[in-house]
Amino acid sequence: MRNITIVGTGHVGLVTGVTLAEIGHQVVCYDIDQKNIALMNKGISPFYEPDLNDLLKKNLDTGLLLFTSNPKEALVDAEIIYITVGTPTNENGDINLTYIEEAAKTIGEHVTKQEVIVVTKSTVPVGTNKLIKQLIEKNLIHAVHVEMVSNPEFLREGAAIYDTFSADRIVIGADCEKAAAIIEEINRPFDTTIVKTDILSAEMIKYSSNAFLATKISFINEIANLCEKVGANIEEVAYGMGLDLRIGTPFLQAGIGFGGSCFPKDTHALLQKATEVEQPLEILESVIKVNKRQRYVLIHKAKQHFGHLKNKKIAILGLAFKPNTNDVRGSIAIDIASELVTEEAFVTAYDPLALEETKKILGEKIHYAQSIEEAITNTDMVFITTDWDEVKEFSLEKYEKLMHNPVIFDGRNCYPLKVVSKYNLDYYSVGRPAIV
Ligand code: UGA
Repeated sequence: MRNITIVGTGHVGLVTGVTLAEIGHQVVCYDIDQKNIALMNKGISPFYEPDLNDLLKKNLDTGLLLFTSNPKEALVDAEIIYITVGTPTNENGDINLTYIEEAAKTIGEHVTKQEVIVVTKSTVPVGTNKLIKQLIEKNLIHAVHVEMVSNPEFLREGAAIYDTFSADRIVIGADCEKAAAIIEEINRPFDTTIVKTDILSAEMIKYSSNAFLATKISFINEIANLCEKVGANIEEVAYGMGLDLRIGTPFLQAGIGFGGSCFPKDTHALLQKATEVEQPLEILESVIKVNKRQRYVLIHKAKQHFGHLKNKKIAILGLAFKPNTNDVRGSIAIDIASELVTEEAFVTAYDPLALEETKKILGEKIHYAQSIEEAITNTDMVFITTDWDEVKEFSLEKYEKLMHNPVIFDGRNCYPLKVVSKYNLDYYSVGRPAIV
């Protein structure tokens, strides 16, 4: 059992803290947000993540998990410290390292042990671990030897607990054998392949993995657009391609593009680094360009169908950037809603979890519904923007009943064409023949 301190209890930090406690470590989670710390001390996660609340409560009860907003209490005895603060983007899209810098400063000011290992889990541009070390050392009050480890996370929101216990690999980047061995030992119960490497390569593994997955999505979206033009069906194509093990089936689902707080940010940051060192990444540049374009495919189709969207009543189903989360950061659905408002349409949106988060961004520009039924009743058309199970399982018969001339623009290919063709609907999806 190790004493571990987690700095930053957002999505990555809380999941890391809870799962490290679950495998038997003594974990103190620190955050400056006192309100959230108070919530977590009551066993409530400030955000939605399947299975998280149960594990949180369980480990609070056993005493292996503690929460505090007092940096001294969190760091005075700390020997292993995980940095898991957010790395948001500035308005111009560049990465903002303010929270990382604050965390480094706080660590420097409060550690007292002779040797500490600082493990960076936050996604930081290549070379940042070196800067973190320098910042910690600059702020040290006691004589402390600091070793850095880059241990990037590969968790998907909405599946973070599952991904932790069923990881494909754990990457440990260190320039000190002893530090690497200690972090390897901590991670062994997660029972997966451990990749030990240097810090810079570990940082690169994280960015290249996200960039590659984003590339798969933009690639399949371009092929989907071509399928429509030649009359093929992207689902058949992606299935046939994916069975080749060198290609693989995951992340070949065509749609309106990738969103979220990771792919858009990380592709941009990697491109920025490449530009900085004068090593252009032309494929990645195209991936980003394709993704920006893809969010408009449904709107183009709607304009072609209706001529214009002014004064049309439009329902949007799904606001979260993907199912099983209330996160709307980088959500394509939000961009689509804004664009439809610009087109002077009347927009009503429904999402099982993300209404409150959306209100913070779109406010009264759109209306909000409490159910799919309420959202679609008497609308001219429906945009499906997030592939929630609730949307996929929603009966097509209800569109017929609740709309006068139902027209659906499905940006996530939620319904099989064979099923749709049995109903009296106009149905457009992505990369599949339209049913009109
Ligand atoms: C992503 C990675 O999948 C994680 O491995 C990584 O740890 C995480 O970023 C991170 O860097 O923290 P996440 O952003 O939670 O995870 O979500 P994904 O499930 O990867 O989905 C991202 C976006 O791609 C969503 O908008 C989703 O709808 C879209 N997507 C995904 C597609 O359009 N098609 C697909 O086939 C798959």
